[in-house]
Amino acid sequence: MTTRGEALRHVAVPAPDALPRLLAGVRDDRRPVSLAEHLDREGSPPVGRGGGAHAELIELVCASGLSGRGGGAFPTGQKLRAVAEQGRNPIVLVNGVEGELISSKDHVLLAQVPHLVLDGAAVAAAAIGAREAIVAIGAGLTRGYAAIETAIAEREHRRVDRVSFRLVRAPDRFVAGDETALVNFVDGGPAKPTFTPPRPYERGIRGIATLVQNVETVANLALLARFGPRWFRALGTAKEPGTVLVTLGGAVRRPGVYEIPLGLPLRELVVWAGGPSAPIRAYLIGGYFGTWVAAAEADALALLDSDLRTVGASLGARAIVALAETSCGIVETARVARYLADESAGQCGPCVRGLDAVATALAQLATGKQSQPRLQRWLENVSGRGACRHPDGAAHFIASALHVFADEAAQHAAGSCSGSDGPVLTVARKRRRVE
Ligand SMILES: Cc1cc2nc3c(=O)[nH]c(=O)nc-3n(C[C@H](O)[C@H](O)[C@H](O)COP(=O)(O)O)c2cc1C
Ligand code: SF4
Repeated sequence: MTTRGEALRHVAVPAPDALPRLLAGVRDDRRPVSLAEHLDREGSPPVGRGGGAHAELIELVCASGLSGRGGGAFPTGQKLRAVAEQGRNPIVLVNGVEGELISSKDHVLLAQVPHLVLDGAAVAAAAIGAREAIVAIGAGLTRGYAAIETAIAEREHRRVDRVSFRLVRAPDRFVAGDETALVNFVDGGPAKPTFTPPRPYERGIRGIATLVQNVETVANLALLARFGPRWFRALGTAKEPGTVLVTLGGAVRRPGVYEIPLGLPLRELVVWAGGPSAPIRAYLIGGYFGTWVAAAEADALALLDSDLRTVGASLGARAIVALAETSCGIVETARVARYLADESAGQCGPCVRGLDAVATALAQLATGKQSQPRLQRWLENVSGRGACRHPDGAAHFIASALHVFADEAAQHAAGSCSGSDGPVLTVARKRRRVE
């Protein structure tokens, strides 16, 4: 293993409070950074060709306070330790499905800094003693897939890694990114979630303990192994350290993927994005499992799970959409509710029938054909009733809309709508602009 000291001989340590970190290597023309360019900028990969699990790497990750960037925010060091304790030859599975339609952050990393992602996967493999790392990429993320494919070939040619990489094209479905669905798919089955336990860290691919980690999480591991936990903790807060990638869309002048220190006020992020392009009615925070928050309330929030929790929200998939006053939250939510109902993996009754009924009722409300009294009860009935969190996430999102857009819902029940804009929240599978 290359020690931190050796790695740092080749490269200056970036100032701990400098931004960006994960996106520092991105080229002006947004083309993928080659291995030579990557090594020139970042120095040797932080892990060499030595074997066995490296407890000190796990300690380093624990000390950093890094948590998963795929939505659940589970402590990464704890997960590494749990997999390492399961025994020999575990597997690393990098989750690059990015099933969330309004998120582009993982695609940006895959397509633009592929070697940072692969370095991070190699660090994860070294930490737990894995010889095999699989990178699963959503089928719609074509530029990301091509960049990682080339990057793996470059690394094999130069014999950079001890771990061997395999690339898998995963279905472009919302639930395919659930870790149990992804493991099932890599094993040759359908990309449908399975009941837990066992979780993949206990029994994953081919029945072997599998570390499933989001693309952004592993990219962080690459920097952490180079620059250490003190450097990592210099941005963010003591409880939620580091930076995160946020995909900001909707009514802002420069929508795109932004790397922010955890704790940045939402108001400031909007300024980074050139300011609002219209007066804002509300923000959707956390993607399609996220929470609508009225603009007046959202303006005071810091982008931090502990602060967002005070309004029932979380960073979730780190996708945020600003909804203009001229858009209708009920119409937007109804369209996404139908999409989420159709994305159900179709194997748990309350999810299949419940979400469908909720989406139908919401569509009727949106078109002024029905008021909403039964909706709340149906939402309660779908939560916590599936093999995965799909129905819970969808129900939470819809319930927040009924709360924040209560006035609009009443208007709809009375047959009118205050929105005049076209669709804002996409439900089209064909997407994937790399910002
Ligand atoms: C319905 C559903 C969809 C998910 N989609 C993704 C996804 O596209 N990408 C992702 O990294 N995690 C996704 N997750 C979370 C994964 O199950 C898992 O927690 C994550 O990949 C773990 O990595 P992390 O600890 O680095 O965040 C999804 C979870 C659910 C329930
Ligand atoms: S809860 Fe829904 S999405 Fe999840 S496994 Fe069951 S049917 Fe599929």
